[in-house]
Amino acid sequence: MRVIPFRFEGNRFWLLDQRRLPKEEVWVPCQTAGEAADGIREMVVRGAPAIGVTAAYGMVLAHLSGQDPAEADRVLRKSRPTAVNLFYALDRMKPHWGDLEGSLREAQAIWAEVEATEQAISQHGARVLKGQVLTHCNTGPLATGGYGTALGAIIEAHRLGRVSHVWVDETRPYLQGARLTAYELQKAGVPATLITDNMAAYFMAKGQVDAVILGTDRMALNGDFANKIGTYGVAVLAHHHGIPFYPALPLSSVDPHLETGAAIPIEERSALEVTQLRGVQIAPEGFPAAHPAFDVTPHTLVTGIVTEKGVLYPPFDDALRGALGWG
Ligand code: MRU
Repeated sequence: MRVIPFRFEGNRFWLLDQRRLPKEEVWVPCQTAGEAADGIREMVVRGAPAIGVTAAYGMVLAHLSGQDPAEADRVLRKSRPTAVNLFYALDRMKPHWGDLEGSLREAQAIWAEVEATEQAISQHGARVLKGQVLTHCNTGPLATGGYGTALGAIIEAHRLGRVSHVWVDETRPYLQGARLTAYELQKAGVPATLITDNMAAYFMAKGQVDAVILGTDRMALNGDFANKIGTYGVAVLAHHHGIPFYPALPLSSVDPHLETGAAIPIEERSALEVTQLRGVQIAPEGFPAAHPAFDVTPHTLVTGIVTEKGVLYPPFDDALRGALGWG
């Protein structure tokens, strides 16, 4: 059973508070674009496609609450920097500024496209997976509002009898794997084991990982991609052990303005998310900590890119341009 992270009801956009999962399911209402932006910034909702859909409905809320669309757009654009889906959705909403019905139709279309593309991603991704797979962060319905990208493929591959077991990286420091991926796999009835991020090499060396599949927040035209911090490390480990490594994404996560991953903006989050665990201090008081929330994996470590148009193989520049319909 999939859990959808939002709904539009009573002229409000309701967010399932992902900070409180898996302990409790609490819904937070948003009535203005500012409240939708707060929900994105504070991680009530997270995951690249899900924050795109939320931003689109944030613009609908701006119309409903009589807010200046230009100001609403500015506030939403500032909420989180790395996932390109946020900017993709806001660009699509722009022609509908000042038109409530048009903006509602466009937001609904963006959400419907998430569902359709993820059905295709799940089917294409399932074909390249077999045996035991490892994933990082959370890429299920909670992260997207649809079927999920990498996790959608894993669930579909399990349904087809191709995948027998999933290794779930806990994903320090925000624990999207331990809290959200574990929750979604349990609900989907897929056999899985939670591991800390530093255990991945151990299980790879023992021959217990047949493939890695995970998500993408922004991909450049050469196939370099930003995803949750720790992804690059998993890619290096997979390469060392000769394990196929697949990022999964809708083509709306490709940034058509970036040739390489070097210029992808990386969000720096609060050091408290590193020095504390769910509000409990674990480092000495006042000890400095760094928290880049994403890293960039070079395309040279990628086996194939799972998209709604199929699995793309090197050379990725040509394959991505072809999938985007650029010739
Ligand atoms: O900081 P988050 O939880 O928004 O990061 C999410 C990820 O990195 C996901 O892997 C990515 O958005 C792909 S979601 C299908």
